Amino acid sequence: MRIVRVLGFAGGLALAALQGWAQTTPGMPSLRKQGTATQLTVDGKPFLALTGELGNNAATSVEHTKSIWPRLKASNLNTALVGVSWAQIEPVEGKFDFSVIDGVIQQARAQDMHMVILWFASWKNGFSSYTPDWVKKDFERFPLVQINKGKSIAMLSPLSTVNRDADAKAFAALMRHLRETDGQVHTVLMIQVENEVGVLRDSRDRSPAANKAFAAPVPKELMDYLQKHKDTLISEFAEVWKAHGSKTSGTWEEVFGPGKPDTLELAVRTLAPPMTQEDKDAAWHKLTWPADEFFMAWQYARYVGKVAEAGKAEYAIPMYANAWLQQPDHGWPGTYPSGGPLPQVMDVWKAGAPAIDILAPDLYLTQVLTELCTRYTRQGNPLFIPETSGAAEATSNVLYAIAQFNAIGFSPFYIERQVGPEFQLGKTYAQIAGMLPIILDNQGKGTMAAARFTAENASQKIKLGNYTAEISIARSRRAPGAVALPATAILISTGPDEYFIIGDSLNVTFSPNGPGPEQVGLGTVEEGSFVDGKWVPGRRLAGDDTEQGETSGVRVAGAMRVTLYRYK
Ligand code: DGJ
Repeated sequence: MRIVRVLGFAGGLALAALQGWAQTTPGMPSLRKQGTATQLTVDGKPFLALTGELGNNAATSVEHTKSIWPRLKASNLNTALVGVSWAQIEPVEGKFDFSVIDGVIQQARAQDMHMVILWFASWKNGFSSYTPDWVKKDFERFPLVQINKGKSIAMLSPLSTVNRDADAKAFAALMRHLRETDGQVHTVLMIQVENEVGVLRDSRDRSPAANKAFAAPVPKELMDYLQKHKDTLISEFAEVWKAHGSKTSGTWEEVFGPGKPDTLELAVRTLAPPMTQEDKDAAWHKLTWPADEFFMAWQYARYVGKVAEAGKAEYAIPMYANAWLQQPDHGWPGTYPSGGPLPQVMDVWKAGAPAIDILAPDLYLTQVLTELCTRYTRQGNPLFIPETSGAAEATSNVLYAIAQFNAIGFSPFYIERQVGPEFQLGKTYAQIAGMLPIILDNQGKGTMAAARFTAENASQKIKLGNYTAEISIARSRRAPGAVALPATAILISTGPDEYFIIGDSLNVTFSPNGPGPEQVGLGTVEEGSFVDGKWVPGRRLAGDDTEQGETSGVRVAGAMRVTLYRYK
């Protein structure tokens, strides 16, 4: 059944909605809940995106991308993230040219691969370098962000509905074209709407329109959302609201505290204002001038949300917004994009951009991977990692993200520079591809978990089903060799006394969770591997290789199936 969505956007789009394409076509990519997880489904089946992001400008030339696809395929990717710019498809206002993107889609199809399209339009890394020239030149019609007492910066202002509607019109044209050319084939899975939005070099837009909106009351829609969701708001956001009296109306500064004083001008990398080293170390975990950041988050969310709505009216595949995260040298909003979909403003984005399905971290800060995945999966936000490092540690990070946080995709940046015979993640992608059914079947059901090991965290417990597994990095003579850290172990409970364990150089011991005999013994212990989703056993182990069957006898190198029993 096709469901029609009524839109607030221009009339032409509403017509498209009435034609019935607005929400569904059979098998089109969509998001579906499975227990606590949200999975991407394509052609009615769950799909895990083993992907990488092409360099920003790769897909501006069909010729350039020709040799890339087979290389991605050979490294076991099933999808690539590909930028398409507003300038590329609408070089002259109102005249659209989809020839390059059509060619790139054909190439992906020829390799049986999928694509996620990155809509580089009003913003790319905060700035507006991918807008068409007719937009860039006409800065009076398409107003810019102003910082530091009125200096224009080459960033479209999110407060302008003219900017928004021009972008939305082009995006709707792209989505209409995708529906017409890909609506039955489903090469394109998802859309990233814009790229790393947010104001840089100042904590907020200070154009006259922005100053007026900042001095006005916080919009009622946002205040209503906050009150309605007050018990489940993101904690760091709720703390700011509470600290200023949990007001239900007032200006941005009345409700969320003071913004950056007009008199204070700071160079972009300055850790504001004079700080001790201790303060600096803590600054990137703190919110400075949250009123400014929350205000900008509302402006960007409303704008990006409207662009997404216009696109979904044409072809409603899943859409997400990606974030440039606050990092150790980012002490105040403006050193990182102020107003982007960072964890602290997830509520503002949810309230302002309901057409955006996922808020996605560009996750280069892998030393705090667990913290960031945890923050980004709050309130049921699905985890999709559109940008990350493809270095050796990616092999561990991807396993952790999909098994512990039910990620729907993982995507190292500038992938065409990395793939090849030495690309370790390619081997992990092949391993995951073999295990896909078991991973997808178990996401969100409480039957799969993962632990991540670092030098400081060499031993961890996973409580899963009837047993708790204590897993540690093996250092015994039976499992020699340095373990590459970080390392990940995945545990899947496939029956009351049966587990699969995936990892390398690990020792595992099991203890019972419920009443009954206290001792745990090893029943069947098999080495093996997953091939096309099926478990193919290798050696069956007992005796010397399993400590004579005592529970401490499981040493994992690759994948293992273990059955347990209890005795006294
Ligand atoms: C993050 C951006 O989203 C990418 O497009 C690219 O510019 C990288 N940064 C560069 O490191």
